[in-house]
Amino acid sequence: MNVLLLGSGGREHALAWKISQSNKLKKLFIAPGNAGTSTIGENINIDLNNFLAVKQIVLEKNINLVVVGPENPLVNGIQDFFIENYELKNIPIIGPGKIGAQLEGSKEFAKKFMLRHNIPTAKYISVSLETIDRGVNFLKQLSPPYVLKADGLAAGKGVLILNSLSEATQALTEMLNGKFGEASKRVVIEEFLKGIEVSFFVITDGNSYKILPEAKDYKKIGENDSGLNTGGMGAISPVAFANNEFKQKVEKQIIIPTIKGLRKDKTDYKGFVFFGLMNVNGNPFVIEYNVRLGDPETEVIIPRIKSDILDLFDGVANNTLDNKTLQISDETVSTIMLVSGGYPQSYEKGKEIKNIDSVKDSIVFHAGTKISDNKIITNGGRVLAISSCGKNMNDALSKSYKNAEKIIFEGKYYRKDIGFDL
Ligand code: AMP
Ligand code: GLY
Repeated sequence: MNVLLLGSGGREHALAWKISQSNKLKKLFIAPGNAGTSTIGENINIDLNNFLAVKQIVLEKNINLVVVGPENPLVNGIQDFFIENYELKNIPIIGPGKIGAQLEGSKEFAKKFMLRHNIPTAKYISVSLETIDRGVNFLKQLSPPYVLKADGLAAGKGVLILNSLSEATQALTEMLNGKFGEASKRVVIEEFLKGIEVSFFVITDGNSYKILPEAKDYKKIGENDSGLNTGGMGAISPVAFANNEFKQKVEKQIIIPTIKGLRKDKTDYKGFVFFGLMNVNGNPFVIEYNVRLGDPETEVIIPRIKSDILDLFDGVANNTLDNKTLQISDETVSTIMLVSGGYPQSYEKGKEIKNIDSVKDSIVFHAGTKISDNKIITNGGRVLAISSCGKNMNDALSKSYKNAEKIIFEGKYYRKDIGFDL
C-alpha cells in the first residue's frame, strides 16, 4: 500500500523508519517530513492543516492509508474532512475525529470524560472570566502547589504550577484575560498530584486495543528536572517502576474505562491514545490524554515493537485489531535529544550537522533538520534523537551518550542525566 504520514518531528521519523520495514508498503510519503525521513520516503512540502492540499496529495499519489503524527490536524478535524468527502471517505486515517480529539484539544472535555467514566484523575473545577470567583474560592481550598491549565491547545505551554496562593490567583486572572489567547479563555484548576510520571500508549480500532510499550519522558531542559519545560529531552522504555501490578491497575482502572467510555459516548475512535499518568504511591492517575504518540516517547517505543506496524494499522482500519499480534522486545531503549542552544527559548537555525554517518550502534532519528545545499542543517529546537537498544538501561544509555558526543553542530546541548530517577 501507499502510505502518507503527516508530521515532521522525531516521532514521525521513528514512525517512518518502522513503516518502511513493512512488507505491505509500496511507497511512503511524508508531509512535510525532515532530512531523516527524506532518506526512507518522499517528503512533500505542504501545510498539514491545509486539508485541501492533503486531499490533492492523497488523490495524486494513490494513497491507501494516512497516518497522522501530531495533534493539530486531528483537533482541526482532518478525519471528519475525509469522512465527509466522497473521494476520500474510504481512505482510512490513523487518528480520531474532531470529537475524540477533544480528549487532547480541551482539558475540560477530558476532565468531564474521566468523571463520567470513573477514571482516576485529580479533583478540579473549570472556570471562565465570569466565574473567576469560584476559581479563587477553589484555590483557597487546595494546598500548594497550585495547578492551572489552559483549556485549549497551547503548544505544550498551557500548564502553570504555582507555589503560592497569590501567584496562583494572579496567574489565573492573566490566563482568563488571554495569556494563552483563546486557549486560556477557560482554565482548569486542579489538585496537585505528588508522584512520578509515566506515559502509557494504546492503539485502538474503537473496540479492541493493544497496549504499546510504556515510557518515561524527561520534560525539563535542565538536569535533575530543573528549568523550563520542553517538548521532551529524552526517554526510556520500559519503565522499571511500572511493574506488573501497576500495569494491571492502569489497564483495569484507566485503559478499559477509556475505550469503553468512548464507545458509550458513541465517539468513533481509531488511532493512538496517550495516557500521561502520575504514579501516586503505586496508584495511577490520569494527568492528561493525548490523541497521538508522544515525542520523544515514540523514539523509544517504536524500536521495541517487533510486529509489522502496517499490519496493526490495517487492523485499526478494518476493525480487526483483535486478530493481530503485537510482539514487544524486552530490551531497553533509551533516547537522548540533542537540542539547539537557547531552546526552549529563542535559538538559531541553519547550523550544519556533522558526523551522523559515524553513528553505528544507535539509530539517529531526525527531529528539527532539513537539507540545504546537500548539507544537513538544524531546523528546530529539538534537532536529533539518539535511540539505542541495550540489555538494560545503562547499556542502552551508554551507547546513546557515546553517539550524542560524536555528533557535532554549533550550540548542541543535551541532558546528561536521562534515567537518573529510575
Ligand atoms: P500536561 O500538559 O497536562 O501534561 O501538564 C504538563 C506537566 O505539568 C505534566 O507533565 C506534569 O508534570 C505537570 N502536571 C500537570 N497536572 C498536574 C497535577 N495535577 N499534579 C502535578 N503535576 C501536574
Ligand atoms: N513528550 C510529551 C508529548 O509528546 O506530549
